[in-house]
Amino acid sequence: MKLISLLKKNNFIFFILKNIQRLLKNVLKKIFIFSGLDDRLSTIENSLVYNYLPENFNWEKYCLNGQEFRRKIVTEVLKNNKFRLIVETGTEYGFTTKFFSDFSSKVISIEKSKPMFTIAKKNLQNEENIQLILNDSKNLKSIIDNENTKIDKNESTFFYLDAHSDDDYPLIEEIKYILEEFSNSIILIDDFHVPHDNGYGFDSYRGKKLNLEFIKDLFSKNENVFFPNIPSFKETGRLRGYIIITNNTKFNNFLNNITELSSHKF
Ligand SMILES: C[S@@+](CC[C@H](N)C(=O)[O-])C[C@H]1O[C@@H](n2cnc3c(N)ncnc32)[C@H](O)[C@@H]1O
Repeated sequence: MKLISLLKKNNFIFFILKNIQRLLKNVLKKIFIFSGLDDRLSTIENSLVYNYLPENFNWEKYCLNGQEFRRKIVTEVLKNNKFRLIVETGTEYGFTTKFFSDFSSKVISIEKSKPMFTIAKKNLQNEENIQLILNDSKNLKSIIDNENTKIDKNESTFFYLDAHSDDDYPLIEEIKYILEEFSNSIILIDDFHVPHDNGYGFDSYRGKKLNLEFIKDLFSKNENVFFPNIPSFKETGRLRGYIIITNNTKFNNFLNNITELSSHKF
């Protein structure tokens, strides 16, 4: 195990290993689909949804990956800056969506899986300021520009980007759109590599690590980025890494004063 995690530090070996894993996964997926099992599973999944009890909705424990320092930082950001809108991609059960609903009069969360969307709808049925959208967050632009969401892009907006898996990466489209059109925003990307602390987990896409290198072409000169400076061994919960990005001077000054964050110089 130690040898594998050592090898993974090398970007080329990481790339090869991840692509072998991807290839195997795709072969298994093809066999699975060919056998018709995916349809049967989806039917079972949909029927199970209705047995999911809202009493189990322990959002306080699971929001923001159960990471206490992340929660402290995000709370400080949201409490001290009036965000007119919070947008989350990847609703899943709605744990973090519920957390956000205390900090803004409007929260939009986008989920592409029908069963997850149905569960979240049930979990969040009493939250009037939350709008759940069943869609692929790759379509963020058309979702936001839609009449039903009624969004003014000059309003202060907090984005929590959490809809990515090894085979689906809407992230590039999402970030590009936000940085081009929202000048008054903060973006937090979950599952992001934290430089100098490998204790924080991160995602990869087709063998490429989700790190600064992966998104650097999207930056103009106006962005400032921040990473948690709390060592991963002091954090709680799932220990996922994250990055915070802003292209707004006021938010940049605010984030610079949060002691648990470090500004990253390129
Ligand atoms: C890690 S979970 C999100 C957790 C949630 N944000 C929280 O903090 O409790 C990722 C979710 O993103 C969804 N997802 C994956 N790709 C997506 C896409 N392209 N568009 C929308 N949702 C997506 C998955 O179905 C899954 O429910």
